[in-house]
Amino acid sequence: MQQGAQDEDLSKKLHIPIEIGHKLISKLIESKSLSYSPYSHFKVGCCLLIKNNETTSDGESFYSYVLGANIENASYGASICAERTTIVKALTSTTTTTTTCKDATNWVCIAIIGGCDNDDGGKIISPCGICRQVIREFVPLDFPIVMFNADASQWECKTMEQLLPDSFGPDHLTHS
Ligand code: THU
Repeated sequence: MQQGAQDEDLSKKLHIPIEIGHKLISKLIESKSLSYSPYSHFKVGCCLLIKNNETTSDGESFYSYVLGANIENASYGASICAERTTIVKALTSTTTTTTTCKDATNWVCIAIIGGCDNDDGGKIISPCGICRQVIREFVPLDFPIVMFNADASQWECKTMEQLLPDSFGPDHLTHS
């Protein structure tokens, strides 16, 4: 399938304008370059797409892109995955344009990309179990998670619930 057609399908799936779909993919590719992965050499990038409440001067919806990447550590267990870097960054950001980051009702999707530099396309990647649980804390069960292969030539979209069925979440801790 042509890349352009892929982007169109993605935009339709996410109910976003085609140019936002294009930008999401280019931001996602950019996020992978932020990876610090000298141990695994496996670069993972993540982009959280947010639809802001404000519109531009010509009435267009305004979108924000929060980027994250995997940040490894010489003490391997201290490494942080791209998805968690992104979620924490969004929730703790204090800039004006990202005020709405903290309100997950404005979150459109989370996209991830990953692979080794020498991967030729490679397999579509998928969030690890810990990241699934962390994302689950903040998003509805029908929230889309878009997973790409290393060169963004292929993607697959699944809901939070598909990736983490029968999950435990904040709703289980509320007392009636
Ligand atoms: N990694 C992520 O960033 N996200 C995932 O969901 C899976 C794995 C990172 C962790 C480590 O830096 C590298 O990929 C290899 O496991």
